[in-house]
Amino acid sequence: MGSEIELDYLLNHPIAKTATADLNSEALARRSFSPKKIRIFTKRYSLLEDQPQYRFTNDKEAQKVLPDIICNPVQKVTLGDEISEVKKQAFSKKRNIGVVFSGGPAPGGHNVIAGLFDEVKRYNPESKVFGFLMGTEGLIESSYMEITRELVDAHRNMGGFSMIKTGRTKIDSDKKMDDSLKTCMDLGLDALVVIGGDDSNTNAAFLAQHYKKFGIKVIGVPKTIDGDIQVSTDDGDVLCAISFGFHSAARAFAQNISNLATDCESTVKYWHICKVMGRVASHLTLETALQTHATLSLIGEELADYVDQERLAKAKANNTIDYNAFGITLRHLSRFICDTIVKRAAVGKNYGIMIIPEGILEFINEIQVFIIKLNKIIAEYNTIHDIDFHRAFPGLADKLEYLRWISQGMIDKSPFPIWNLRDDELFNQLPPFFREGLMVERDLHGNFQFSQVKTEKMVMDMVKEYLGVLKEQGVYKIGIKDTAYKAIMLAHGLDPKLYETTLFGNPKADYLLVKETIISQKTLKQALVSNELMAVEESIPEPIVQVFKNSEPNFKTQTHFYGYDGRGTAPSHFDCNYTYNLGLTAFHLIAGNATGQMAAIRNLEMDFDQWEPIGIPIAKLMHLEERKGKLELVIEKSLVDLNSNGFRVFKALRDKWMAADSGEDHYRQPGPIRFAGDTEEDRPISLVFNSIQ
Ligand code: FBP
Repeated sequence: MGSEIELDYLLNHPIAKTATADLNSEALARRSFSPKKIRIFTKRYSLLEDQPQYRFTNDKEAQKVLPDIICNPVQKVTLGDEISEVKKQAFSKKRNIGVVFSGGPAPGGHNVIAGLFDEVKRYNPESKVFGFLMGTEGLIESSYMEITRELVDAHRNMGGFSMIKTGRTKIDSDKKMDDSLKTCMDLGLDALVVIGGDDSNTNAAFLAQHYKKFGIKVIGVPKTIDGDIQVSTDDGDVLCAISFGFHSAARAFAQNISNLATDCESTVKYWHICKVMGRVASHLTLETALQTHATLSLIGEELADYVDQERLAKAKANNTIDYNAFGITLRHLSRFICDTIVKRAAVGKNYGIMIIPEGILEFINEIQVFIIKLNKIIAEYNTIHDIDFHRAFPGLADKLEYLRWISQGMIDKSPFPIWNLRDDELFNQLPPFFREGLMVERDLHGNFQFSQVKTEKMVMDMVKEYLGVLKEQGVYKIGIKDTAYKAIMLAHGLDPKLYETTLFGNPKADYLLVKETIISQKTLKQALVSNELMAVEESIPEPIVQVFKNSEPNFKTQTHFYGYDGRGTAPSHFDCNYTYNLGLTAFHLIAGNATGQMAAIRNLEMDFDQWEPIGIPIAKLMHLEERKGKLELVIEKSLVDLNSNGFRVFKALRDKWMAADSGEDHYRQPGPIRFAGDTEEDRPISLVFNSIQ
């Protein structure tokens, strides 16, 4: 062995120093990238032009509780070179602006701050931007930092929300509202920019209403990887095609999932089960499916639309309507999945990639009912008692006991208890980990925390169980390539032709399927004996045993959860440009005296030179929704539109991608997020489809 080099020498060697630096050349290149600016932002002044052609129906409750912002029109940021001198001077006024991240991270958030910061400083270097720490908690508790150029430069085009962190605190009491107002007043803020999802923009609307008389403007920014903030008018005009972060997260998921496709296509032994984030809506699953051509992708919104035709027909024959035929159950779902697995196995493909949306349970009949009922039970308990439900009943057994009391009428004396004996019985049939999952604490906004439930395990356990049944029935079998069958037989001097009609149900096919009646070596022997191909006292010829064994499926899975990794990925080019311009838009809305508006970019689905900065009235997007057992005013989440071009293309091509035939699989490799050059991956594929007129 040669002499060992000194560790000190090694660590201080320039090669080692570069290789172990916290920042690699890729990160440095990212930081120095300058996003493109929408043309109007390369000019000096802007003007907010009302766009009355964009109509929304106001919610009555929103009208009542948000009276000062409900009448806001959509505003377009246009060229303002002709504005009055007074207005021009107002642009350069010294301002203090606060900014806060709220909810889960989404790639591009730092660029919103960068865009805002650059624009604030462009008009007046004396102006200041303050970042509230740990989300709205920092606003309530007056915990903040001044954002400096060094800080911004260190985070340009970088993922995450690490600059000022984030949180999920809801401003849901007068005290929190007053405390946050005091923070803003003490800092002399002109405006607050809330970068968040549906719940955070809901917060922003209430803050805008509350702060209006104090002259503090509030602007929201549409963030969430879930892609469920999309805004269309009553007439179907798309004002915000997607929230930021969606594209980057979907690209990250797609890259990982397509890598798995390469693996499973090579080793041909696993089904990779990929749960993909998206609390409720399946936008991320749809986009990932379009990017990877995964074998089977489930879209929750479509499953909710499921109709059991057989059941319906049966009821019709009896002159009745069977309401249980509408909507999907866990049982239906597992059968649906098994159908694909069995079809592929029949052509020798006992592997594949399955994408399950995180929020799938929200669309499954019986689970939906459990979630709603449990929400109500927990909320009611919390309003009556001093101690929170989850503290009072910490373990699963305690919680189940409480539910049992309700079902037995020991808590609620009404003749129809919210949790009846049937609920209790059905609930107790679910595996313990899943029951526990359904009872997890709701988040501060009252949302069910799907990310904490092992949905994929639950679904796959049911799938495995049913595959067992199908195996017993002789339906689930691996198809054997005819050439492979012949080779095995001939190698042992047996005539393949002699045995094929006894062994296979489809002797002329490319992939031979052992007959359904042959499910064991015993039934195999019976078939051979009854066709006089062997005597009872003989052993089954070895090659035939081998063929039979090759036809026996062994369903092996690997489960993966794609969520937090995609939330933390570096932003794509699309998201870098999108978010930087959102930051610029936020400033121009503030400079134009807007409040209660969400900064947005119209025409995102088109080329960059068609992007248009606008302000969307947040109050007009609100509706009443059940949260923690009561109705609350929140921004309506956009679900996957089953009539959208993106979904229709997916639906038309999914049989091809399932590839339950003897041909090749059709997996697509979208590749990693690239930072330079024009690529076809430069915007979400679902958006590209939806832009086709
Ligand atoms: P936002 O709606 O706040 O953007 O968060 C989205 C999300 O990433 C969901 O996809 C996921 O269900 C949830 O956050 C997980 O949240 P948590 O960080 O609390 O685990």
